[in-house]
Amino acid sequence: MCGIIGFTGNIDAKEVLLQGLKALEYRGYDSAGISFFTDDKITTVKAVGKVSDLEGKAALFSNTSTKCGIGHTRWATHGGVTETNCHPHKSGRVTLIHNGIIENYKELAEELAEKGKQPISQTDTEIAAMVIDDCYKSNPLKAIRKAVKKLQGAYAFLIMFEDHPGSIYAIRNGSPLVATATKEGSVIASDMVALIKYSKDYFVLPEHHIAQLTSKSIKITDLDQNEVEPDMLHVNWDMAAARKGGYDYFMLKEIHEQPEALRNTISPRIKNNMPDFAADAIPDSLFSDLNRIIITACGTAMHAGLIGKNMIETLTRVPVSVDIASEFRYQNPILDKRTLVITISQSGETADTLAALRLARENGARTLSIVNVKGSSIARESEYVLYTHAGPEIAVASTKAYTVQLAVMYLIAFRFAFVKGTISNNEIVKLTKELEKIPGFVNEILSCDTSIEPISKKLLKTESLFFIGRGLDYALSCEGSIKLKEVSYIHSEAYAAGELKHGTISLITDNVPVIALATQENVFAKMISNIREVRSRGAMVIMIAGADAQVDASLCDHLITLPPIDDAFAPFGAAIILQYIAYYTAIARGLNVDQPRNLAKSVTVE
Ligand code: G6P
Repeated sequence: MCGIIGFTGNIDAKEVLLQGLKALEYRGYDSAGISFFTDDKITTVKAVGKVSDLEGKAALFSNTSTKCGIGHTRWATHGGVTETNCHPHKSGRVTLIHNGIIENYKELAEELAEKGKQPISQTDTEIAAMVIDDCYKSNPLKAIRKAVKKLQGAYAFLIMFEDHPGSIYAIRNGSPLVATATKEGSVIASDMVALIKYSKDYFVLPEHHIAQLTSKSIKITDLDQNEVEPDMLHVNWDMAAARKGGYDYFMLKEIHEQPEALRNTISPRIKNNMPDFAADAIPDSLFSDLNRIIITACGTAMHAGLIGKNMIETLTRVPVSVDIASEFRYQNPILDKRTLVITISQSGETADTLAALRLARENGARTLSIVNVKGSSIARESEYVLYTHAGPEIAVASTKAYTVQLAVMYLIAFRFAFVKGTISNNEIVKLTKELEKIPGFVNEILSCDTSIEPISKKLLKTESLFFIGRGLDYALSCEGSIKLKEVSYIHSEAYAAGELKHGTISLITDNVPVIALATQENVFAKMISNIREVRSRGAMVIMIAGADAQVDASLCDHLITLPPIDDAFAPFGAAIILQYIAYYTAIARGLNVDQPRNLAKSVTVE
């Protein structure tokens, strides 16, 4: 969602802001704007559309020197996609950008109206700017401290005060902000992708703390005015990881990065052929004390949870439920100290997942998160963290983050089974060795794109299609369906294959595509029956099956087979095939796969 960048230093700030906004484009947005100091005045440029549109407008100021400014990509929540609603917003001497939602903006607007102050936009953000300006006499820190007492909701603000040229002030509640001071100056952004150009070392601005950025340093104070030293973090990826590196799209690059991402995630956690979380500081007692697991997450991460449930229940016989994070809080969940709540999140910032985690902690449950972004809110607020090591994921449609989440779920299932003693050590060693082979297996499967691309072209004109599967394949169908919808805009639904005839089969007519996953031997015969049911109603069937599957040629129009692999690990292969189907279908339809309309990479509002 909204991307934020701020810079003050000794190089051209406009350039830093525009480059930063380009790096943040992947988060999803519909307009963009920058504000910068020129002498003692603040100039603002805004554009609806892409950062390149903004760049065109900012070119008018190419001869204007500026060393300090803030920039924003807006994903509309309050108010339509217009230049007036686009950030930065100005009120009096305050110019501000915001990521989040001010929930009490209506009441605040009424209070301001009583003082004769009216906003010009429809945004909650302008109200926040007005509240800060209303509190402002001459001391920015005082004004911010006073204003945030009035604001309810989530926010990350960068604020410039017209009479304090060269300084940027930042504060956050919920929404993320990372910062670093370098020899070029001080830089702050909504995520590391915009900072990596300047440094691999950074800190996460603690919540409810104010950062004051000047060209020389960043000073942090809490709301009681105490100075605070930030905890420095380090990322082990570089600029190259955040670039396309010869690929047409980040999505394709990230699909191809899966063998490495899987290796980096799995290998450090295997010792003597057994899963080992000692380096992650996760004690076995976490598992021995449990009698129940709840997995909660959103989107693709939730689909990784569905596979995780299957593995954990199969190996440990401990009940696992999977809840959509945005629903979790409203289901009055039963939580206690023998319940482990596992939250899964690539970004570690998804607002609903974070809220679910907080509820779990408040109610005394144990918490473990599976997160890709170091130092993110979910990682920091969980009792235990298992980081996935996928590197930055830029494409909105999650690919490598999903398969590494699966890998961590498998490791958890193996370790948990070891602690519970539900399967023999020999079996665990065998499973662990199979998991270690997965990066190689995925590497092998990556070359199947040449056969998938022509199949995807057949989906070009499709309006609606279905994914069907049973067991692990049903969980995968959910992921295949969301991936296709996200990037190709074709309506699709995932159905448990046996459930289709209870209503939805009425939608299967001539040439309606059905993508049937049949990688699991224990349900293979039943899947064949289900495929026949759709086939006899005219469906165009694309079937994904295991290496040894005996498939009658009349059963499907296209057959894609996996290389030989134990059924339990087939999801790693099927996932790649489904990612390719989504990618090549979107390409065939001429779409921008990395930035699908309306979607955001990291959803920081509820
Ligand atoms: C958004 C993204 C999805 C992602 C979901 C959860 O909807 O577009 O790709 O799966 O958020 O994100 P998270 O960062 O929590 O994994």
